[in-house]
Amino acid sequence: MQEIGRSIIRLESVDSTNNYTANCARQNKLRHGAVIMAVEQTAGKGQMGAQWQSDAGSNLTFSVFLNNVNLSVGRQFLLTKIVSLSLVDLLAEFGIAANIKWPNDIYVRDRKIAGVLIENVLQGKEIARSILGIGLNVNQQHFESIPATSMFLEKGMPFSIDDVLFSFVAAFNKRLKQWPSKQLDDDYLNNLRWLNESRNFEDQDGAFVGSIKGVTDSGLLIIERKNMNDQEKFIDRSRDEPTAIEKKYDLKEIRFIS
Ligand code: BTN
Repeated sequence: MQEIGRSIIRLESVDSTNNYTANCARQNKLRHGAVIMAVEQTAGKGQMGAQWQSDAGSNLTFSVFLNNVNLSVGRQFLLTKIVSLSLVDLLAEFGIAANIKWPNDIYVRDRKIAGVLIENVLQGKEIARSILGIGLNVNQQHFESIPATSMFLEKGMPFSIDDVLFSFVAAFNKRLKQWPSKQLDDDYLNNLRWLNESRNFEDQDGAFVGSIKGVTDSGLLIIERKNMNDQEKFIDRSRDEPTAIEKKYDLKEIRFIS
């Protein structure tokens, strides 16, 4: 895939940079790699129908338009990996250690610093075009809903929004050179929050203890369950203890508790 960021469009106010990008793309007004940022979004979109709230002028809210992605639907998680890692890389450059909460929330300790909303246009079984929507908390100091943080809160000083955007473009283009590769897969896993740690989760059968073992190519989360309900319990007589089983989850099927 070719580099991004040759053209950067700056909007004062828009409903959502993802919507704006989708409209322009539909009218063939955008070239591959265009970056569309907005000072203010009046109806910013988050994952699973949620809203993305961001104080006007304080943060980075932008979308990247990818044309001719040439990726089969089954491999679309590569886009998630590359965006998430670019955000982790850029934050590291500013001295902030972040990691990825599957699939693509970016966290500093237990606080969210960035979110990603990827919207794809499919042609048959291929992704024809993709819009990568990114919200990164830069200078905002107070957050109302979920526990969140910003670059300012982490470093105690303000940052230039433009500098942060340029760093993202550079980090993304650097990661693009690894696309697709085992390195990208390994780096995603190595930066994944809670990997191989015993944690509390909840699925449709209730709460359970498990640990994240990885992610499938299509992006499902693989969790090894530690305490199974009776139906699933299988005693391995040679070891006389329940054998842990692995399950794969889609985003709507699993909740992270603690
Ligand atoms: C999430 O829920 O974590 C995803 C948030 C994505 C927000 C960004 S801000 C720029 C782009 N435009 C939108 O409307 N949403 C994304």
